[in-house]
Amino acid sequence: MYDFLTSIELYNFLKGPMVWIAFLVFICGSIYRTISLIMLAKKDKVVYPYLSLKYTLRSLAHWLIPFGSRNMRLHPWMTFFAFTFHIGLLVTPIFLYPHIMLWYKAWGVRWWSLPENVADIMTLIVVLCCVFFIFRRMFASEVRFVTYASDYLIIAIAAAPFVTGFLSFHQLIFPYRLMLILHIIIGELMLMVIPFTRLSHMLFFWLTRAHTGSEFGVFRHSKDY
Ligand code: HEM
Ligand code: HEM
Repeated sequence: MYDFLTSIELYNFLKGPMVWIAFLVFICGSIYRTISLIMLAKKDKVVYPYLSLKYTLRSLAHWLIPFGSRNMRLHPWMTFFAFTFHIGLLVTPIFLYPHIMLWYKAWGVRWWSLPENVADIMTLIVVLCCVFFIFRRMFASEVRFVTYASDYLIIAIAAAPFVTGFLSFHQLIFPYRLMLILHIIIGELMLMVIPFTRLSHMLFFWLTRAHTGSEFGVFRHSKDY
């Protein structure tokens, strides 16, 4: 098993065809899930007639600006950690030097990268935010009673590429090749499960805001934030 996990054949497969498969599943799965949800909403006669661009944009603006909604101001720690986490989650892998080098070797394109120590700090911050999410789910009473095992699993899936990427890069535990292979498997797994788990909130966020923002604005004449 160890020989297989550290074999050059597996490494080449994961860094080659499997990257394609992971991105294809992520992109096609995302398109499929988004179209399915839009079609499903058509069946509900009251969704489309109330959709309003004005209230959608108003809702999006309030929920994308840190502390823009009353709910965020009522939960300042969650707001702080959630925004910090999402910025790190998106920015770090895209502007990470080793990742950019992979794109460069495959496609000949490269872009600006984070200095190594900044990437390290951002990685650790993302992991710290995940620790906060776990404690929040364990101890915040209003969240605990709606928390299932799957909620912890989602947080673990989000944290795992950062933990393994950091351990591999700094060669802290396990032989280097093994840790790197684990990192790549986990990174690809995360991409592939996004459309099919609660991580799909990434795709549905704007639709949720369109629906809720419009309902509150057009129908209830009130704010949704
Ligand atoms: C598509 C599959 C992926 C591949 C092929 C890949 C490849 C790599 C490589 C080669 C490294 C450098 C490790 C070293 O030199 O030992 C690395 C580091 C890292 N990767 Fe990935 N990665 C992938 C997915 C991801 C994803 C999805 C994330 C996060 C969302 C991620 C986050 C990181 C982080 C945080 C580091 C280390 C940063 C640091 O401490 O400097 N990777 N990755
Ligand atoms: C880029 C678009 C994304 C948007 C707009 C977004 C938005 C949100 C929002 C509004 C929350 C809830 C915060 C709260 O309860 O106050 C949240 C939580 C979370 N998101 Fe995202 N997200 C995005 C992408 C992602 C991705 C790509 C991942 C992981 C792969 C992710 C992982 C998480 C996790 C782990 C939580 C905390 C879960 C918990 O409640 O314990 N998000 N996100």
